[in-house]
Amino acid sequence: MLDNFFNPNSIAVVGASRTPGKVGYDILKNINQYGYPGMVYPINPGASEILGKKAYPSLIGVPGKIDLAVIVVPSKDVIEVIGQCGTKKIDSAIVITAGFKESGIEGSKLENELIRKAKESGVRFIGPNCLGMIDTHSKVNASFAAGMPARGGIGFFSQSGALCLAVLDRALPDEIGFSKFISMGNKADISDTDIMLALAEDENTKVILGYIEGVGDGRKFMEVAKEVTKKKPVIILKSGITSSGAKAASSHTGALAGREAAFDAAFRQSGVIRAHTINELFNFALAFANQPLPQGPNVVIITNSGGPGILAADACDKSDLKIVSPHKDVVDELRTFLPTAASFYNPIDILGDSGADRYEKALTTVLKDEKMHGIIVLLTPTAVVDVDETAMAVVNIAGNTDRPILTSFMGKQRIGSGAKTLLRYNVPNYSYPEEAVSSMNAMYHYRVWINRPEKTYPQFHDLKSKAIHIFEKAAEENKERLTDSEVHDVLTAYGFTVPRSLFARTSEEAVAAARGIGYPVVMKIVSPQVIHKSDMGGVKVGLDSKKAVENAFFDITTRVRNIMPAAQIYGVMVQEMIRGGKEVIMGITKDAQFGHMVMFGLGGIYVEVLKDIAFRITPLSQEDAHEMIRETKTFPLLRGVRGEAEADIEAIEKSLLTLSRMAMDFPRIIEADINPLLVRKRGEGVVAIDARFAIGGE
Ligand code: COA
Repeated sequence: MLDNFFNPNSIAVVGASRTPGKVGYDILKNINQYGYPGMVYPINPGASEILGKKAYPSLIGVPGKIDLAVIVVPSKDVIEVIGQCGTKKIDSAIVITAGFKESGIEGSKLENELIRKAKESGVRFIGPNCLGMIDTHSKVNASFAAGMPARGGIGFFSQSGALCLAVLDRALPDEIGFSKFISMGNKADISDTDIMLALAEDENTKVILGYIEGVGDGRKFMEVAKEVTKKKPVIILKSGITSSGAKAASSHTGALAGREAAFDAAFRQSGVIRAHTINELFNFALAFANQPLPQGPNVVIITNSGGPGILAADACDKSDLKIVSPHKDVVDELRTFLPTAASFYNPIDILGDSGADRYEKALTTVLKDEKMHGIIVLLTPTAVVDVDETAMAVVNIAGNTDRPILTSFMGKQRIGSGAKTLLRYNVPNYSYPEEAVSSMNAMYHYRVWINRPEKTYPQFHDLKSKAIHIFEKAAEENKERLTDSEVHDVLTAYGFTVPRSLFARTSEEAVAAARGIGYPVVMKIVSPQVIHKSDMGGVKVGLDSKKAVENAFFDITTRVRNIMPAAQIYGVMVQEMIRGGKEVIMGITKDAQFGHMVMFGLGGIYVEVLKDIAFRITPLSQEDAHEMIRETKTFPLLRGVRGEAEADIEAIEKSLLTLSRMAMDFPRIIEADINPLLVRKRGEGVVAIDARFAIGGE
């Protein structure tokens, strides 16, 4: 896939410049100087030769076939050059030129024209507004980056050219090996998903790394990522988390930054590993590119000092990794050669006077314990230890085991050459123990992802037909919200239990309704304009007598009328009062890029303060529903604390899956909240106490 980009037999640089320091000059220079073996054609109307290569006035005049055109002419000329690509049957181009969507309305128009022209001409292109592309294996450096990374297994794509440069600069001194470097620019044609698919097929790429600010088609991104992550790890750094970050992202390349919850859910549901900093992106990439995956969560730490060992163990505790004690036989063997003051359990502290031999023996011994799935070796550069020798000892052992070994030789000056040795022989070294732990944890998560069984999606019989008339009628009337009774009907159509309710226009009717339902009751205002009823004083609970109901009717209607004089008050809803149980919230929201998501949170009215919520993009699998409940920090409250009975967690799962079905059935739902959903004891189900539905669009 995209072969002419990564492995072209010939390249034309349109806008190759005679002037050193110009972008068109540097690109040609890069293609020449890193050993590209194919034909290179500089295109420049004013030159006969540039950097020793015969130049041509236009693409059309080039005698041979051209596989790839690198376009670096001013923006006003780009479209014409794309047309020439079509005439010359060049199907692949990289548009370096800036001045498109990222620069405003005129630029956006130009970009649309570029897209149209490229389609018409049969040209696929990377960019515009990009730095170019590097393939270390085919020796193509069609970029204006300063330098060429070493050959290796990391395939990197980035929406930001600057980040490409930063990553490259960081990679060069340590000779970190890359297969490909792709600066995506505005992604007007070739997208993240195209690149992920190409890198998934590329035999030189072991791990896929990406930096994105947003994705065009969220659903497609997930679909592709799900397939790709089955074959290779995909690690992505996504910016635009904070609102100011999001603003910068949209003015940067004009990308519409997606909402963070949606990205988190999308990454999680498609097996993408999310890095939160550039450093983390690197750390994870080094681990995945160089070491085998752990088979399980058990990690053993070998250290020559107590503090770092404890830091590493603490970091493991906060992750999904486990610190388990070595097998008794292993401990017995450790005792035969370690000083008595050593610590034989995990972390294994071999003490500050350790040399390379002690490290070697300790490592060899712990590897005899089959239940240790990964090893983290820590070293503080004492005067006694020979860092280089120790690095070689670790390297030799790592080369002969199928279990991952990560190291944290701490410091800078004294460990410099040792750290280089480690990396040269595929053992990533991290500046701090926590980084080694988080990288091991990422590898463990990926192992779990590739081992997990196929997800199961529940089968629903037709629920849609029971509610479709409600949504159709609402659409005809251009309603933005469903009324209380419509909400009631939709919820019951989808099998939710709702409190028994009767509508009352007068206080006499309210008393009759309360009598019919049985005291105590709840009373709620019914008005199309009142959305947050309790904020308006429109809800009264625990009404246990005729008098209380009469007073409440008067009270509620007067208060709402005072606060919102224009509101139409239809009457009140008298409702069965449900007691006991725990309050949770669940709902549906719609993300611009990923579509519908289902949300779950604990805490009822406190949910906005606690923000202890989890999201999944629809359709939800059984596993998604199971996991998202357990993802919330307050989940133990549902299990029951201090002798409380366990809540009906299964019923919550079922409700989440039902909401997911509902969202799939009715794309016009913009937002829905069931808040609170009262969860009773295990086996007793849930009751949707209150709900709201906002609808519209399509
Ligand atoms: N066909 C062929 N060659 C052409 C041409 C055309 N249609 N139009 C111009 N050229 C030649 C020029 O003669 C010049 O060569 P010379 O220096 O030997 O005279 C060369 O191409 C460059 O043209 P010039 O007009 O000098 O442009 P420039 O170098 O100042 O700028 C870009 C061109 C593309 C670099 C600039 O428009 C641009 O987009 N810069 C930003 C790039 C960027 O930052 N990308 C994103 C990175 S993340």
